[in-house]
Amino acid sequence: MKPRILVARAIFPDVLARLEQHFEVASNQQDRIYSAEELLAAADGCEGLFTTPSEPVNAALFAANPQLRAVCNMAVGYNNIDLAAATGAGVMATNTPDVLNETTADFGWALMMATARRITESEHFLRAGKWKKWSYDSFVGPDVHGATLGVIGMGRIGQAIARRSLGFDMQVLYHNRSRLAPELEARANHAQYVSKQELLRRADHVVLVLPYSTATHHTIGAAELELMKPGATLTNIARGGIVDDDALIAALAAGRIAAAGIDVFENEPAFKPGFLGLSNVVLTPHIASASTPTRLAMANCAADNLIAALSGQTPPNLLNPEVRVG
Ligand code: DGY
Repeated sequence: MKPRILVARAIFPDVLARLEQHFEVASNQQDRIYSAEELLAAADGCEGLFTTPSEPVNAALFAANPQLRAVCNMAVGYNNIDLAAATGAGVMATNTPDVLNETTADFGWALMMATARRITESEHFLRAGKWKKWSYDSFVGPDVHGATLGVIGMGRIGQAIARRSLGFDMQVLYHNRSRLAPELEARANHAQYVSKQELLRRADHVVLVLPYSTATHHTIGAAELELMKPGATLTNIARGGIVDDDALIAALAAGRIAAAGIDVFENEPAFKPGFLGLSNVVLTPHIASASTPTRLAMANCAADNLIAALSGQTPPNLLNPEVRVG
């Protein structure tokens, strides 16, 4: 008998077919978003779950499904999973690091550039038929080249963002839980480790790439926005909840900073309607890792983890090694 698993969201048919070679698969290819209670019920009888950041995986789910052995998230971020509860229940949890680093760094740059150079705002102007003449000051904004880049969260994606700044002749400041080894700082365009406050005071373009946890909740709020330069931009490709969205809307409306690029929102896919009334914000629907090869690699990585976990091996990306494999 093959172990039963639940694939909680629609995924690439090829990856689903791969999973079907190993498991009896209950899948949600119609892609309905499960509430926590629905997920708990859908996991009935399953030894493994293939999840995405949309699924809340909590203690109640583990309590109701003692047969569960592994939860494999198709994302590097795993704040949708209560990791302590998984460990307490003896359930292996995995994520998909590394495969998305470069694609996500590309997008961080795209969003930062679009924000600084007012690309979506000016495109909306053109599409609305408002472009009647060239003007010396139309859509002027800050430069990117030669400016100071501030990266908060200098993991592998943050370092990939910093590396790209070499071609733009930028100075890089970073803040992180801990300082990088000197050789990593050198590879990251000689990034300089500073406090969060110093980074916010000095950077022209601040990019957020840190994982979400209770400790990083509202890393950027009203006080932090107040420290930023008036002409600075803020780009969030990390997670909703890292930024206090109400405080950001107020700062953008007041012109406290020049502009923001936001790919992730508190309580997404819902977002604060106040964003829509602002012209100095670029809004995207959590797509930083969304290149076709990278999303496929993430899905295959989650599948590799699930296959290993349910066949008695240690999954390559095990987050809670204290859970005994077997
Ligand atoms: C991740 O991997 O955590 C991304 O945010 C999902 O695209």
